[in-house]
Amino acid sequence: MPDLQGVLDEIAAEMAVQTDRGAVADYIPELATVDPNRFGIAVALVDGRVLSAGDAQDIFSIQSISKVFTLTLALGKVGDGLWRRVGREPSGNPFNSIVQLEYEAAVPRNPFINAGAIVVADTLLAGYQPREAIGEILRFVQFLADDDSIVIDHMVAASERATGFRNVALANYMKSFGNLDHAPELALGVYFHHCAIAMNCCQLALAGRFLADRGRSAGGHSVVSAERARRISALMLTCGHYDGSGDFAFRVGIPAKSGVGGGILGTVPGVGSVAVWSPGLNRQGNSQLGMLALEKLARVMNWSVF
Ligand code: DON
Repeated sequence: MPDLQGVLDEIAAEMAVQTDRGAVADYIPELATVDPNRFGIAVALVDGRVLSAGDAQDIFSIQSISKVFTLTLALGKVGDGLWRRVGREPSGNPFNSIVQLEYEAAVPRNPFINAGAIVVADTLLAGYQPREAIGEILRFVQFLADDDSIVIDHMVAASERATGFRNVALANYMKSFGNLDHAPELALGVYFHHCAIAMNCCQLALAGRFLADRGRSAGGHSVVSAERARRISALMLTCGHYDGSGDFAFRVGIPAKSGVGGGILGTVPGVGSVAVWSPGLNRQGNSQLGMLALEKLARVMNWSVF
């Protein structure tokens, strides 16, 4: 097996000199202030080791990557009944698209596009006030990573709440079809806050390790069954990069989920999880250098699942 630390260092050095870094998301004003020259990468191996390079200790907004954690939590709560309200197919559309909802009776294509994640947030509200549901999500992520220091960036949540008109439209649209149990603003409150969870690459890789280790978390706890970990990973592969999912599978070949903060969480079954962060995005809203870095890592380490 190639020297993994050496490979990570080499990738970080290569990314540091890239000039075409994509564009930082600016539709959430608070995200627009992030330095586009940052790059970090971390791997959490199932044997317990964590290796990293570059700005792997810098905290960033995980945004849509949080949808992996809320989906896991929701499946634990409502089980496969969730699939009556949200599908399991790639959408082929941008993450914030509304067009499919009308002709598909407001059942979002998958839990990773915004509409699907808002439905998932709605299920997490059952029996709870928004504040309690948000607290439960945060504690779950802390438990997965075995790290109590992980927090929500309330400035980012407020910034998104003030400007998230498309998400408001998606939630209201689904409510009109009866696919939200709670008031749209309550589901959105939960959604905006879990998207604003802030982590560094090492924490994120640790939080995602359960996917690679047959459902066992960084702290050694059995979080989900091996089968559920496999199925969540399958959804990450098919839907984790929105309308860029096919290209990501083609170039990288590992299940992964992106966020507009520039992070990507990937899982290599039986080997470990990898978190990468570079704030500049490509046209589909996925980290440009993050994808390039994972492409190289998967190739050199022979980590493609195909
Ligand atoms: O709802 C939004 O637009 C953001 N909170 C999350 C979007 C996101 O991360 C899309 N990923 N690439």
